[in-house]
This record gives sequence, structure tokens and C-alpha cells, in this order.
Amino acid sequence: MLIILCILVIVSILICCFYMLQKGKRSNTTIDQKKPLIIAHRGAAGSYPENTHSAFQAALDLQADMLEFDIQLTKDNQFAVIHDETVDRTTNGKGLVREFTIEELKQLDAGSWKHPSFAGERIPAFTEMFEQYNSKVQMLIEVKHIFDIDKVAMLLVDFLRKKPHEHIIIQSFNSEFIKVFHQLLPNIPVGVLIKQQMNGITKKQVEDHASYASYINPRITNSSSQLLNTIHNQNAHCFIWTIRNEQQMKKALAINPDGIVTDYPEWFIKLNKSKKPASL
Ligand code: G3P
Ligand code: CA
Repeated sequence: MLIILCILVIVSILICCFYMLQKGKRSNTTIDQKKPLIIAHRGAAGSYPENTHSAFQAALDLQADMLEFDIQLTKDNQFAVIHDETVDRTTNGKGLVREFTIEELKQLDAGSWKHPSFAGERIPAFTEMFEQYNSKVQMLIEVKHIFDIDKVAMLLVDFLRKKPHEHIIIQSFNSEFIKVFHQLLPNIPVGVLIKQQMNGITKKQVEDHASYASYINPRITNSSSQLLNTIHNQNAHCFIWTIRNEQQMKKALAINPDGIVTDYPEWFIKLNKSKKPASL
């Protein structure tokens, strides 16, 4: 009788430990409602100036499920929504983003480079994204140009602790940054972006990333149904990026990942009229 009791106690402890470990490993995700989610890359960046409010509003009007955008640190330790390390390509200014304060960045014209009709578009501050979109749509936030992992992670954690963040995912190509961020703020789901790899992405790489990341996001040129299965077998999700032409669109739809990141959300919304709206 005593032996049976001991065995029962040991089994119960083991089951508890297993569930606690699973819980601590990664954050829960919000994407079980349908797939693929249509994720507007830098907003609807094919037709609007990327990472501006006109691009984000267009994506909302198109009923995209998620906004993807890029953030990086400014001179005054704020986060600005801009992709490149410099302002040269997408504004009328010149120089490194980290050498501008957020107020200086907001003086720049971030629309005219795309078309004169977008003159006056501004670089959004990260905080505006929460004020304008967080209650309306999910946000896939990529952290760019991380020159100091600990500093950027601490500032981002500090920022997010003061903001409601029910429907956000933090992702980066810098997996070391993602690990540090995840340790500091484990309740926010994180993703790793995988660069193009000549020999494909190995099962071992997927297993390593899945030990802390809920999303493993490969480039379309590196994507396949087999890779999707490998990612799903690790209980992770997969967003494929970045769809910009018809051939890529067909390939992405055939793979049917959890999410498709595209400059042209309008293509997918039109294709999939029966899509249920994503529930938040
Ligand atoms: O979300 C994937 C994609 O945004 C990564 O590449 O260079 O467009 O930020 P990039
Ligand atoms: Ca990005």
C-alpha cells in the first residue's frame, strides 16, 4: 500500500513538473482561429509608403489580420518605426536613425519618395502604434539594427511594461536578442526570422529556435511544406515572408503556413473572401 502511494506521489510530481516546464518554455500565441493569417508587411507597403500611417490604415481597411512593422532605437532612447538603418531611402533626410531624436525624425517627409501624393507622411513613434492600432489588429513587431542587445532589450521591456500588449509578437533576425528579451518578459510571444540559407534550414536549427520562440519565420525562397511540418512538430508556428509576386503567392498558398507576410494584402483578401475575420 505504501509503495503504491509513493508511486502515485512521484507520478503526480512528475506530471506537475512537465506542465510547469511546458508553461515556462514559451508564451501562448493568439493564432488558432484560422490560417493563413494575412500580415501586412510594413503596412500595405506595395501601394503605400512603408511603415507610415497611410500604409497601416490601408492594411486595416483591407482587413489584414496583422500589421508587420520595424522598430529601432533613436538618439534619445525612443523607438521609431522605420526599416533601414538610415533615413536616406524612405525620407527626405540623410543619416543614421540612431543619430536623430524621435522629434527630429518626425520632422522628415516619409511619403514623397513613394509618390508626391504621400507628401507629409511621417515616421511614426512606436507609442503611436499602440494608441492607434493595438485595440484593432494584431501587431508583428520586428526589432532592427540592434547595436547593443542588453540596452535595446531593457528599453523595450520597460516600454512594453507600460503598454497593453495582448496581441503583439516580437521578432528579430537576431536570435540572441530574442533570447534575452524572452527571459526578461516571457509573457510576450517571440519569433525568430531565418535568413536565406544556401543549404536549407536544418531540423536541429528548428529545434534550437523552438526551445524559446513560438514563431519560426523563414523567407519564401527557403520555405517548403516539409519545413512547415518540422516547425509544427516542434509546436511552433510559421509565418512566411515576404510575398511580392504571383509566383511567391502561389507557393505560399500551396504551403499554407500559419501566416503570410506580404506587401500586397489586397491580393489575399480578394482570393479568400470566405475568410472569417480574425478574432482578437
Ligand atoms: O517579417 C519579415 C520581414 O519583415 C523581414 O524582412 O527586411 O522586410 O524587415 P525585412
Ligand atoms: Ca520587417
